[in-house]
Amino acid sequence: MSAPQVRHPVFARFFDRLSRLMERAMGDERDELLAGLHGRVLEIGAGNGMNFRHYPAEVTELVAIEPEPYMRGKAEDAARQAPMTVHVRDGVAAELPLDDASFDAAVACLVLCTVPDATAALSELRRVLKPGGELRFMEHVRSAQPGKARVQDWLDRSGLWPRVGGGCHCARDTITAITAAGFEIEQTHRFSLGPPWALTNPHVRGRATRHDWQR
Ligand SMILES: C[S@@+](CC[C@H](N)C(=O)[O-])C[C@H]1O[C@@H](n2cnc3c(N)ncnc32)[C@H](O)[C@@H]1O
Repeated sequence: MSAPQVRHPVFARFFDRLSRLMERAMGDERDELLAGLHGRVLEIGAGNGMNFRHYPAEVTELVAIEPEPYMRGKAEDAARQAPMTVHVRDGVAAELPLDDASFDAAVACLVLCTVPDATAALSELRRVLKPGGELRFMEHVRSAQPGKARVQDWLDRSGLWPRVGGGCHCARDTITAITAAGFEIEQTHRFSLGPPWALTNPHVRGRATRHDWQR
């Protein structure tokens, strides 16, 4: 058996607890993120499967990619309780073991901050989506306040934030990256989770579609 590509045993256990504690505050956000999805859906970096219970009944199959072994075990537990068929698979977002144009929708939730190469991950998401397929995202992003953004930039550049946060970056401009990858942004909603000054705020939730006419 080959070694896991992603291993964050301490962060994984911390995040598993945190996400359960945050469910009261985040549950509605997760509902909003996933509302209206249907058909065959892909979720990358599914973590402990916290989203599974929030998918609408119209989702017939969910493929959940999670590379971290502890997290994947938790996701497998959550999959057994989920109302629809969930296939939890090992893999990384930059090399999805999935066919072209095979999903109606894809979900990136608190993961584009963490993948080593967000551009490569978004390019893979675009590849596996059907033309016109939807990308749903909920991510924390670089602040629009210059002072806070400078601190976030430094924390990422110094490697401090990624080291304590299981590879997380707090200063990514994810909306620009989504657009650059060949998606059209349809809707965004900015909000804070916890105190607005937290370095993981602001968050952006939204929808984008794979567009093909310029390619
Ligand atoms: C902050 S957690 C979010 C988990 C989940 N999406 C949620 O909403 O609770 C980030 C997840 O991304 C996973 N991850 C890390 N590197 C990844 C990669 N290269 N490709 C896909 N997922 C990755 C981590 O193992 C972790 O489970």
